[in-house]
Parts: sequence; structure tokens; C-alpha cells
Amino acid sequence: MKEKLELIKEAAVSEISKISSSNEIENIRVKYLGKKGELTSILRGMGALTQEERPVIGKVANEVREIIEGKIEEALTHIKNQEKQAKLEKEVIDISLPGNKRFLGKRNPIDLTLEHMKEIFISMGFSIEEGPEVELDYYNFEALNIPKNHPARSEQDTFYINDNIVLRTQTSPVQVRVMENEKPPIKMISPGRVYRSDAADATHSPIFYQMEGLVVDKGITFADLKGTLEMFAKKMFGDKVKTKFRPHHFPFTEPSAEMDATCFVCQGEGCRVCKGSGWIELLGCGMVHPEVLRNCGIDPEIYSGFAFGFGVDRMVMTKYGLDDIRLLYESDMRFLNQF
Ligand code: DAH
Repeated sequence: MKEKLELIKEAAVSEISKISSSNEIENIRVKYLGKKGELTSILRGMGALTQEERPVIGKVANEVREIIEGKIEEALTHIKNQEKQAKLEKEVIDISLPGNKRFLGKRNPIDLTLEHMKEIFISMGFSIEEGPEVELDYYNFEALNIPKNHPARSEQDTFYINDNIVLRTQTSPVQVRVMENEKPPIKMISPGRVYRSDAADATHSPIFYQMEGLVVDKGITFADLKGTLEMFAKKMFGDKVKTKFRPHHFPFTEPSAEMDATCFVCQGEGCRVCKGSGWIELLGCGMVHPEVLRNCGIDPEIYSGFAFGFGVDRMVMTKYGLDDIRLLYESDMRFLNQF
């Protein structure tokens, strides 16, 4: 019996050394150690042994079982490692394959420019206010010294919801709304969309953007206006930029002016962007008209203020050298992808 056990051990060990998959190991385990396995049947036959033989053979049989079990364990670990290695090699990630491209939108250059402008004014202590695009005639015109028959109305023809409600033609009505609701000191900007019933062409769009500014406090002078706007121009276009103020007329400021800055492309030499003049018109501005302060319940004997309004689209067009305002509103990705 002892020899038989030896033979079983040798056969099992040699079989185990040849296997190459975990399935085969399972077969061997069944063949030798399973309920009907070779070793098991020998152990079953031990009843026929003598008293003396039994412990001796039992010991050998146990040793053989332990050896076979140990070999199986060893082989299993080895094969599992091999199989894992093979799987890893097969699963290698090919980084040369093109990935799945996600389609990302782009920010419109108006938005980019407005963000830059807002950052500069916020750094100078301005707050940001909002007003409605569908506006009362009173705020858009009347309270700003533009009564029903004023010639300024024809320059700013707009879309009428009814006799008293319009799509705002400018961001200036936000000045009135803020002054009605807040006590000075006031220091705010208000960017947003405005509307005029102009046919779209290279330089006109029925929708465009403005950015209003308003400062009201005791003792505000034209020097504050100039200092603030010159500082803005330097932060926006660089320290070398020069500004100039030309007298102008707006019904809601007195005195009024327009501010030009030296062309940031040619630094004032004259080029295609500034049409040879060396200057680019940036905004309208002036000291808030006493009548407008009065309309908003602010005493012009105590307070004074200045206001300004940028044409944002013009800033964008000159900044990026665009020759057609319609590009900004067509949402054409071939255009927007360039920013
Ligand atoms: N709202 C004016 C326009 O659309 C621009 C403007 C001029 C705004 C002078 C102002 C200002 O606040 O003081 O033409």
C-alpha cells in the first residue's frame, strides 16, 4: 500500500508540473483528492489493514495528501500570476488611438471684452447694477431729459411694446433706476444689451451692447471723470495709451464730451484700424445734468456726479480688427473658434 501511495504521489506531482491552466488544476484536484479520487479510495480501504499498519500507512497517506495539496496550491498561484500577466499584456492601452473629442463652445468676444472691462471697474471700487431690457419710456427717455418731441428720439428709434414701454435704446436708464433707489455715494457700472430699429449692415445691428457708468457724491467734478476714464483706458489698453476729450452734446449731461483713445494698434501713427486718424472713439460722457438728479430725488445743490457710456461692440471690433458687426451675432463657430 505504501508503494501505491508513493506511485500516486509521483504521478500527481508530475501531472501538476505539466499543467498550464487553472481548469486543469481543478481536474487534478478531483482526480486525486475528490470524493472518488485515487487517494480517497486508498484511505477508504484502510479498514482492511492491521492495527500496526494502520497508523503507519495513515501517516504516509496524510503526507502524500499534504504534498499534493501543496503542489496544487503552488501551481495555482503560479498559473494565476501567469494568466494575470497575459491578460495585462493583452489589455495594453494604445495611447496612439485618437480619443473621443468633446465639443466645447467658445465665449463670444463681446463677453470676453465685457469681462475685462468689468474687472477693471471692480478694481476701482465700482459695483455692477442691472436694469430691464424691456423698459418704460419714462426711464429710457423722459427722466433723461428726452421728452416725447425731442430730436434725440429719432436718432434712437426703437421697438415699441406700446406707447409707454420700449426695448431700451441705451443703458442710461439704469442710472435713473439706481439713483431712485440708492442714496449717494453711488459708484456703479451697468453692462447690457440695447436695441434700436436699425437695419443690420457692417456697422449697425438692431441689438448691441453698451456699458453705462455713474458716480454721484458730494464734490464730484469733471477732473474725477477724466481721471477715472484715463485710468480705465491705461488698464484696458496699456500705459502708453493717450486719451482726449471732445465737446459733445447729450441731453442728460452738462457739459458733455466724447472720449477718444490713441489707437492701440498703431499707437497714434494712423493705420487701417483707426482709419488713419490715430484715434479711436470709446465713449460718451459728462457731468450728470442737474435736472436728471432732480428727477431722481437727488438735490443738485448738494450732490454732483459724472456718467459715461461705452459702445462695447465698437471696442470689440477695434480690439480684434473686425470689419463687420454682424460677425458678433451670427454664432458662426468658424468665427467664434478663433477667440
Ligand atoms: N447713452 C448714450 C448713447 O447711447 C451714451 C452716453 C453718453 C452715456 C453720455 C452716458 C453719458 O452715461 O454720460 O449714445
